[in-house]
Amino acid sequence: MKTLTTALSTIAPLILAAVAAQAQEAQAPTAAGETAQTSEFRTFDPTEAEWEIFRSSGEITHEGGEAVYNATCAGCHRPDGEGAVGAGVYPALADNELLAAPSYPIYLILEGQRAMPPLGGFLDDQQIADVVNYIRSSFGNEFVEEFGAATAEQVAETRQ
Ligand code: HEC
Repeated sequence: MKTLTTALSTIAPLILAAVAAQAQEAQAPTAAGETAQTSEFRTFDPTEAEWEIFRSSGEITHEGGEAVYNATCAGCHRPDGEGAVGAGVYPALADNELLAAPSYPIYLILEGQRAMPPLGGFLDDQQIADVVNYIRSSFGNEFVEEFGAATAEQVAETRQ
């Protein structure tokens, strides 16, 4: 019984967090005045502690754009960059003109946006430049060729 009590007290906060998250999700689509577009997106509403993990963990050690992409991005945007519609809407990166200039993807990876979590804490400047160049030159995109490559220096400047 002691073991059970201990186990319960360990997982209780997790259960509470899950219930709170569900309640929030249930409320989101019914909010008055919400447009069809915003309700298509999954709400990403982490706690302060979770934000801290996203901002400062530094755990991804893969090198090279493709490896970083597969480890970090492919779960949401899919390995072929086609995106997905399921629990949320993950935009396609294939044939996406918003990737023409590196500044937008760099900013988004560092800071996150709605259901895309900030990943600046997981990836260093070179990894971010590499993954940005990977998505800009894969899936039919030829933006690196056309407009030039992102650099680690550019990522460092955006971080400040
Ligand atoms: C947890 C899921 C998730 C992960 C991981 C993720 N993204 Fe995203 N990403 C999203 C969502 C959701 C959006 C749409 C954000 C919004 O609502 O504006 C998005 C948007 C984007 C966009 C903008 C696309 C557009 O058309 O505006 C780019 C570029 C992008 N992500 C690149 C990446 C890269 C590169 C990585 C890996 C370093 C990554 N994402 C990791 C979920 C994710």
